[in-house]
Amino acid sequence: MEKKRVTIVGAGNVGATTARAFAEMNCVQEVVLLDVVEGIPQGKALDIQESASLRAFDTTVTGTNDYAATAGSVVTVITAGVTRKPGMSRDDLLGTNAKIVAGVTRSILEHSPDTIFIVVSNPVDIMTQLVRQLSGPPKQRVLGMAGVLDTARFQTFVAEEVGCSYQDVVGMVLGGHGDQMVPLLRLCSAGGVPVRELISADRLQEIVSRTQKGGAEIVSLLKTGSAFFAPGVSVAEMARAVVTDSKRVMPCVAALEGEFGIRDIMMGVPCVLGIDGVEKILDFPLDAEERALMDASAASIRKNAEFIKDYR
Ligand code: 2OP
Repeated sequence: MEKKRVTIVGAGNVGATTARAFAEMNCVQEVVLLDVVEGIPQGKALDIQESASLRAFDTTVTGTNDYAATAGSVVTVITAGVTRKPGMSRDDLLGTNAKIVAGVTRSILEHSPDTIFIVVSNPVDIMTQLVRQLSGPPKQRVLGMAGVLDTARFQTFVAEEVGCSYQDVVGMVLGGHGDQMVPLLRLCSAGGVPVRELISADRLQEIVSRTQKGGAEIVSLLKTGSAFFAPGVSVAEMARAVVTDSKRVMPCVAALEGEFGIRDIMMGVPCVLGIDGVEKILDFPLDAEERALMDASAASIRKNAEFIKDYR
């Protein structure tokens, strides 16, 4: 049987957390953790491997500095790049991370020309578009991790406000991965009960705002970097959905060609994930307020997309 391999580029906090979470899912034969720094991917991969007997997984976890070791990856996760420091926006990382992500994409494609890309590096909406430009069609092979993380944060805050299990809140955060992301209050429920029946409008707005600044809240606490536990698990769940062809519906950065009335950019929308990547975008009518929020989010992405339009 063909060995199923998933590569994670970048062995920093997010990459290593993703590698560990995904290895424990036991759904591929090998996870390859690659970094440019000698020893770091090898040490973290060995450390994860040594937990296999305790965490009951048989995934082989390989650390490497050599792209040849990534050959034939069914999925490639790109976490490489610099992270925010307190006071920085994700957009401040654009110039530095565009160069890093472009180099990584080209190197990966030399060894895995058909890989599905899951992009994490920030600003993720733009970095995902950059990877799509460099990797070519089909469009569904490139997706970005943002909405899964933002929705997880939103659901956390709603559950704590309602006083219910974190597992019983269902929500959806769409749009860009930034201050203009769009938590859809209309679609959020606690055990099927609409949250607008349970939480006041003012309090819900406070939860929306905390969600929009969720990344910055952790950056300000950590001071030396950004979140990685919830991001890592979010990436692992997306990768699992792809490699197991699960058809899970997850909010992902995807290429828009008229869905939600938006085209020519990549942004967070509800996607059916399977072995081919984004197999379907679940488009649906928005109310006037949601539409205005999505359009504003798209406008902020379109502005930054100018920076990468000539990358080939
Ligand atoms: C976050 O929101 C790292 O962008 C990521 O924490």
